[in-house]
Amino acid sequence: MALATGGSGAVAEGVPSTITAESCTTCHGPGGIGSGAIPRLAGEPAADLSAALTGFRDGTRESTIMSRLTGPLTDEDIAGIADYFSSLGAPAQ
Ligand code: HEC
Repeated sequence: MALATGGSGAVAEGVPSTITAESCTTCHGPGGIGSGAIPRLAGEPAADLSAALTGFRDGTRESTIMSRLTGPLTDEDIAGIADYFSSLGAPAQ
């Protein structure tokens, strides 16, 4: 299930091959800076991101969209994604 949409989005290092950063940034804004009602990921603590993703995957946190996306992820996948978005700078606001 490759979610890559092509274009300029590079596959982030440490992010599993089935998931590209671009598949997240379609909704979460370029570089994960957030978009409208969709929360920012960039610069958030990795622990918070992985807790949110684990919650979506395990059903302890509800979100139709995010639960579907995180369903196939392993703990390792989640840690890689969390580290990646955490490592991106938060936008100046
Ligand atoms: C189809 C749109 C969409 C895509 C694609 C998407 N998300 Fe989300 N994401 C959302 C929405 C909407 C929410 C808010 C859900 C809620 O809190 O109920 C959310 C919430 C989150 C949260 C919780 C943030 C917080 O501060 O509460 C995290 C973490 C997250 N997404 C990570 C990701 C990652 C990583 C990817 C790529 C694997 C991704 N999302 C792809 C729509 C999307």
